[in-house]
Amino acid sequence: MTTTQPNSDLIRTEQLRENIAAALIRARRRTATLTDCVDEAELRAQHSPLMSPLVWDLAHIGSQEELWLVRDVGGREPVRPDIDELYDAFKHARSNRPQLPLLGPDEARGYVGAVRDKVWDVLDRSPLRGNDLVEGGFAFGMIAQHEQQHDETMLATHQLRTGAPVLTAPAPPAATTVVHGEVMIPAGEFVMGTSTDPWALDNERPAHPVHVPAFAIDAAPVSNAQYLEFVADGGYERRELWSERGWSYRREAGLTAPQFWERDTDGRWWRRVFGAPRPLRPEQPVVHVCWFEAEAYANWAGKRLPTEAEWEKAARYDPGTGRTRAYPWGDADPGPGLANLGQRHLEPADIGAYPAGASPAGVHQLIGDVWEWTASGFHSYPGFRAFPYREYSEVFFGGDYRVLRGGSFGTDQVACRGTFRNWDHPIRRQIFAGFRLARTVDREEA
Ligand code: AVJ
Ligand code: FE
Repeated sequence: MTTTQPNSDLIRTEQLRENIAAALIRARRRTATLTDCVDEAELRAQHSPLMSPLVWDLAHIGSQEELWLVRDVGGREPVRPDIDELYDAFKHARSNRPQLPLLGPDEARGYVGAVRDKVWDVLDRSPLRGNDLVEGGFAFGMIAQHEQQHDETMLATHQLRTGAPVLTAPAPPAATTVVHGEVMIPAGEFVMGTSTDPWALDNERPAHPVHVPAFAIDAAPVSNAQYLEFVADGGYERRELWSERGWSYRREAGLTAPQFWERDTDGRWWRRVFGAPRPLRPEQPVVHVCWFEAEAYANWAGKRLPTEAEWEKAARYDPGTGRTRAYPWGDADPGPGLANLGQRHLEPADIGAYPAGASPAGVHQLIGDVWEWTASGFHSYPGFRAFPYREYSEVFFGGDYRVLRGGSFGTDQVACRGTFRNWDHPIRRQIFAGFRLARTVDREEA
């Protein structure tokens, strides 16, 4: 054991301060990209009753930053003490937000800028240690993640918006390897969740051992080509493939294909991607399906969705060392060659595009591309402690949600890791969600 020298501590703290600043700047640049490309009327408009007006997300980002970093960490006077209630997500349903006396686009931009100016000062003066809220830069990391989560939500709003395309990005990388079939994961314990990742949110904590029986998991998410077979085989008309709730939702919502799929008079399938019609790419992971569609597809394929523990074991457990790691490829941060994250591309990459990001057992594209629905509801881990507020996770535990894992092309790396847990109602399709299949393996096969 070596004792840490005071000056190396100092260097580490200053490095952390730089990392925090970079994460906050990256988030703000993305927020600007998503809100500067449409006019004032479109910023105020509600593009879908499921979504807030973009101008609500914008000021809500500033309001959360003010609450945690300016007031709580910084102990400063708020920039706008009068607007807390307007931007409290629990006070107003998304569908009612356009009727609120919201800040206009320029006011909202001025507000988030004024909050950020104060935050730079708070960051400069914080020791980044001494209490749970700032230890390891947690509150700053939480706020960078919060902004990026809303940036992904705003990207989903853009996908729902009609009219000429306003967002552009280079195409994702092409496939360089063929990925098919499934990977066996033998029975055994692994460590799920984390107690050490300084920016992990409360629902990812604490680390705890979980015994996972033997299972097989698909090496890739379900592709458009595979999903199309299900559609062509009458998947949406065959009652026996659907659960009771799934079938009643399928009928009531009139589902016949994933959201944004369109079939032309010649029978060719297209997909609308941020306002641009594109021929359906067969090898791209299917996206914009709800949990009930994933469930019906799994029944059709004779498999099932993985549990959350299975997904995380496939993503993090290294059979070579028995260690649980941060990502499928190891502990390195997700670079552009490892996963399709961060809105660098505005659609999922074809299957086989990220061989360097595969797990040691050969499971591909677990991180990035599409969020993956799991079979699991949203529950706390043993030893859970709500931190720093009950409304991030705790109030959703046990509700009508399913957990999604792995992040999408729209997720920033700051809000994506092997332990990160997302959740939504099983009927939701506007999020960038697809799925992969798993199955239980019996003793002889294992
Ligand atoms: C974790 C993505 C379900 O967007 O509702 C944003 C994240 N929490 N502001 C959401 C969140 C508070 C949350 N999800
Ligand atoms: Fe929020």
